[in-house]
Amino acid sequence: MKKTKISSRLLEVPASPIRKLVPFATEAKKKGVKVYHLNIGDPDIKTPGVMVNVLKNWSTNPIAYGQSQGQPKFLESLAWYYNKIGYSFVKTNNIQVTTGGSEAISMALFSVCAPGEEVIAFEPYYANYNSYAAINGVKVVPVLTKGETGFHLPERSKIEKKIGKKTKAILICNPSNPTGTVYTKEEMEMLVLICVKNNLFLISDEVYREFVYDGKKYFSILNYMKKYPDKMVLLDSLSKRYSLCGARLGMIVSLNRDLMDGVLRIAQGRLSSGFVDQAMAEKLTEVKDSYFSAVHKEYQARRDVLYNGLKSIPGVFLEKPEGAFYTIVKLPVKNSEDFCQWLLEKYNYKNETVMVAPAAGFYGTRGMGKNEVRIAYVLNIHDLEKAIEILRHALVEYNRK
Ligand SMILES: Cc1ncc(COP(=O)(O)O)c(C=O)c1O
Repeated sequence: MKKTKISSRLLEVPASPIRKLVPFATEAKKKGVKVYHLNIGDPDIKTPGVMVNVLKNWSTNPIAYGQSQGQPKFLESLAWYYNKIGYSFVKTNNIQVTTGGSEAISMALFSVCAPGEEVIAFEPYYANYNSYAAINGVKVVPVLTKGETGFHLPERSKIEKKIGKKTKAILICNPSNPTGTVYTKEEMEMLVLICVKNNLFLISDEVYREFVYDGKKYFSILNYMKKYPDKMVLLDSLSKRYSLCGARLGMIVSLNRDLMDGVLRIAQGRLSSGFVDQAMAEKLTEVKDSYFSAVHKEYQARRDVLYNGLKSIPGVFLEKPEGAFYTIVKLPVKNSEDFCQWLLEKYNYKNETVMVAPAAGFYGTRGMGKNEVRIAYVLNIHDLEKAIEILRHALVEYNRK
C-alpha cells in the first residue's frame, strides 16, 4: 500500500532545540541519574498565592468558553497593569488575550506577513520564532549579533542591507531570550527609525520586561506606540512575570485598529483562551510589589552565580547577561549538540548530570552557534552551583575522550 504523505510544509517545522533532547534526559532519569534542567525557561519560583487561591476556591460549574478577545475582568486587569507601568493610553480594546505569548507570536506573524514575506530578527533569537514562521509561511531573515559585543545590535547599515521588497517587520525580543541582552534607548530608537523610514512593523516580544538587572534602564516599544500607532506591535505573556507558564496566557497590544480587528477574527476562530486561567490571572492586580522585588533579587543573584561560575571554567566564554534569565555560552567543544547529548546519554558526575540547549537552533544561519549552548538559570543557587561543577568536570572528560 502507498504511504499517505504528510505536507511538505510540515517538514519545514524545526524541532525545538530546547526540547529535542528530552528523550535522552528521560532515559538518564530512568537509570537513576539526577538531571539539572538548564535547558528550558520554566521558572521554579512560586506562582502568587492570590492566583492559586482562585483554583483552591473554585466553584463555577460548568467551565464554559470565555470571550474571544479575553474575559472582560482579565482585560481590565491587563489594562491596569500597563497603566501602572506608565502607559495610561493602553485600554482594553488595545489588548488581545492569547493562549500564551506563543499564540501571540503566531498571530502577529500571520497578521503582518502574507505567505513568503519576511521578518528580520537578530540572531541568536528565540528558537520558536522559526517554528511559528514556518507554520505561517513566513521567512525569518537573520541579522547576526555577536557575543563579543554582548549581542547588541550591529550598525544601522547592516540592518538596512537586509530589508528587501518582501520585508514586513523587524521582530525583536527585549530583554532577549536567548542572549540576556537589554537594548539601549539608542538601539530602540534606531529600530523605530528604520521601521518608520521603510514602512515596517516593529514587533517587540517583551515577556521578560520585569527581568532587567543592575539598575539598567529598560525601553519598551510602548514608549513609541502613541507616536507610531500603526507600526508598533507588542507581544507579551504572564508565563514568566508571575511564574504562570502552565496557565497559557499572553497578549498582543497594539493601537493599529486593522491589525487588532484581524487578530480578533483569528481569535474567534479558536474560540477562547482558558476560562479558568484568566479567572486566576485577573488577580494580578492584587500581587504585591514585594513579589516582584523578591523574584528580581533572586534572579540577579542566580545570574551572578552562573556568570562567575562559568567564567571560571577554562575555555568557556560568555558576556554578563543584562536581563531575562538566559545566556549564550561558548564552550571549548566543536559540536555542542553532540556534547549536550553526551551529557545525558553517556556522562554523569556522582550520578548527576546537566541538560542544556544546543545553540545552533537559535540561529537562522546554518552553521552558526555550533560551539555554543543556551543556559536558562531557572534553578536555585545551590543547584546552579552543582550544575556548574558538573559542567566543569564534564568538559574535561569530554575533551579527553
Ligand atoms: C521570548 C519568548 N517569547 C515568548 C515565549 C512564550 O511564552 P508563553 O507561550 O509561555 O507565554 C517565550 C517562552 O519561553 C519566550 O522565551
